[in-house]
Amino acid sequence: MAAVVLIGSQWGDEGKGKITDFLAEKANLVVRFQGGNNAGHTVVANGEEFKLHLIPSGILYEDKTCVIGNGVVIDPKILLEELDYLAKRGIKTGKLLISSNAQVIMPYHQVLDGLEEEARGEHKIGTTKRGIGPAYMDKASRIGIRIIDLLDKEEFADKLRRNLVEKNNLFVKVYGTEALEFDGIYEAYLGYADRIRSMVADSSLAIDVSIRAGEKVLFEGAQGTLLDIDHGTYPYVTSSHPIAGGACVGAGVGPTRIDRVIGVIKAYTTRVGEGPFPTELLDESGEQMRANGHEFGTTTGRPRRCGWFDAVIARYAVRVSGISDFAVTKLDVLTGFDILKICVGYRVNEEIIHEFPQSQKIFKQCQPVYEEMPGWQEDLTHVRRFEDLPLAAQNYILRIEQLTGVPATLVAIGPGREQTIVRGEMF
Ligand code: GDP
Ligand code: IMO
Ligand code: MG
Repeated sequence: MAAVVLIGSQWGDEGKGKITDFLAEKANLVVRFQGGNNAGHTVVANGEEFKLHLIPSGILYEDKTCVIGNGVVIDPKILLEELDYLAKRGIKTGKLLISSNAQVIMPYHQVLDGLEEEARGEHKIGTTKRGIGPAYMDKASRIGIRIIDLLDKEEFADKLRRNLVEKNNLFVKVYGTEALEFDGIYEAYLGYADRIRSMVADSSLAIDVSIRAGEKVLFEGAQGTLLDIDHGTYPYVTSSHPIAGGACVGAGVGPTRIDRVIGVIKAYTTRVGEGPFPTELLDESGEQMRANGHEFGTTTGRPRRCGWFDAVIARYAVRVSGISDFAVTKLDVLTGFDILKICVGYRVNEEIIHEFPQSQKIFKQCQPVYEEMPGWQEDLTHVRRFEDLPLAAQNYILRIEQLTGVPATLVAIGPGREQTIVRGEMF
């Protein structure tokens, strides 16, 4: 298998960073293809914890080339801070490539993210306020600044000036706030450009060369299926394509090159920010998941909303991304529940539906239809073989496979690299 796409199958934070790090051992290239520093991927390698936002989780291996693809929105200040953080932790980052066509997050994107959220009032999305949405807006409006523009002083000055006229009009005349100054932004961003210049590359070409040479390429998604701008719980979504197809667009690689799609999926469900969540638990069970699973955002520190596993959205994720394998994570967190519930359909008015509805108005009204399974009390974190899991835990995984039609090829039972049960080859 040469090229494998790894994506989040729920609302993000499924453990993509951990699984990427686990699989990256066999990869030559690890590529991020969408999102930005709204992502927070926590990786525990050799007992040490690393928090990554923009740089692919493959970076912890010295010999892997890591790529930030054209579909990513890059805040260069954050990128440089992350590089410094890794250097301080003794991680070598010399093999990082940055697509020349990736979009740049500018200070006015962050300001706008905050102002727009405030203006939405009770309809707020609960964004990470990192400027992600506004940066993708400018990309779609064809006024965005790309990494390659930053490297050309005149081009950058021209684009920044034109953007500031528009954005300052908005800030002053619509929102009644202060205008941003050209000089400070220009100087700061030229400074960032100098530091990243040597990493800028034609990343699509680098990936193609690698695939043609028979090397292994792992595409690391950020966010999750239900946060996809087209296929998620719109408008409570991010502004990019976290589904598998996003890898083709966001890395410049054709779909016939992709051999496998791994859906990372938690053994239960979490969501950060606003928006519908049918299996959400607002009771003690939800508290238990949050406490046992340390469900607090890596990027914003917000408590994550927790709920039972939802097989309807799992099957939907399989559909929209063509998931061939699941990596089920955090099974260990379910230890201690007498009964586990799995949502197998939704009740809407008097009807039962089994597919994710097209209408978000209907999705908001969906009440979960559950089936129940016996839980287990044993600690799973030391188990290394599937057959050594308590029978109830094995059955829970087998039921997820039955309901989705997809094998759970990896099962994670702890944050560490070694806490991963492998049930088949995928890379
Ligand atoms: P990502 O955004 O998909 O990479 O996920 P996050 O890193 O935001 O959140 C997942 C959290 O769960 C991280 O703190 C991981 O270290 C942790 N984690 C991943 N897999 C497991 C697992 O199987 N069990 C437990 N207990 N923690 C895990
Ligand atoms: P990882 O990669 C979970 C959510 C935000 C908000 C919505 C839009 O760690 O799984 P944005 O700032 O992107 O405009 O916010 O998307 N969100 C995430 N939730 N994990 C993430 O990333 C997320 N990135 C964005 O909470 O609801
Ligand atoms: Mg995360």
